Amino acid sequence: MKQYGILGYPAKHSLSPAVQNAAFKALSVDAQYGVFEVPMAELADFIGEVKGGLADGLSVTAPYKEVVMEYLSEVAGDARAIGAVNTVVNNGGVLSGYNTDYIGMNKALVEVVGSLKGRRAVVLGAGGAARAAVYGLKAEGAEVGVYNRTASKALALAEEFGVEGGGLDDVRGGDILLQTTSIWMDDVDAGVEDLISEEVLREFEVVMDIVYKPLITPLIETARRLGLRTITGERMFLHQAIVQFELWTGQRAPMEVMEKVLADNLS
Ligand code: ATR
Repeated sequence: MKQYGILGYPAKHSLSPAVQNAAFKALSVDAQYGVFEVPMAELADFIGEVKGGLADGLSVTAPYKEVVMEYLSEVAGDARAIGAVNTVVNNGGVLSGYNTDYIGMNKALVEVVGSLKGRRAVVLGAGGAARAAVYGLKAEGAEVGVYNRTASKALALAEEFGVEGGGLDDVRGGDILLQTTSIWMDDVDAGVEDLISEEVLREFEVVMDIVYKPLITPLIETARRLGLRTITGERMFLHQAIVQFELWTGQRAPMEVMEKVLADNLS
């Protein structure tokens, strides 16, 4: 039986086990997906065990998406450009790293917006998730701007990827607004106005938040009230999980089964 799992710290509350195990079951894949909650001090030993056959593949979450790259035999070009790996494939002890986060983000957008080519996309944030967003949107031909509470971080990211950037006050309207910060996780009292004013928000057509806990973030709630089209975080989660499943099994993922598990676990 093949073994997969999520590497993180913490990792216990991940939705990945439920979603991937349901997908394996639906296609009768002889595999199981578990949780590898590994403290940083044990990471090197853990990776050694993976190479030795502990797991055939990993999902990687915080705080390991960057540091795990040091232990891999190869890292795909897109993951290297983003600077983060969220998926590992173990081929007989040879570990390869991929990034399916940006693919998931793009798919979640494309299924609502259609082609992203020439669309003006504004990314909020300048952390790892924002890097994936900027890379992915640019790859799809969008006109990208990246804006962050700490403007200097957004400007550095903007310069690296050759896009526009600035502080949150510099945001103007556009076609797509993509929220990648951890604001709703860091501060339960945060409101939409901590990121963007309603006046500027209403200048957008589609608003996506990559956060899925809570599913209806203050931003999504406000955007809906303003009549904008919205995309909640579980769409990105779903699509990145689908790509992971396909990298590991070589089979087309059972999307509806995975969607249902997510719907049952999120509200
Ligand atoms: P990730 O890897 O998930 O993107 P990260 O690298 O820790 O996470 O980045 C967190 C992002 O959320 C940053 O852009 C951070 O802004 P700063 O660079 O100014 O710290 C943003 N963020 C977190 N809390 C925020 C808040 N209360 N208001 C606005 N932005 C916030």
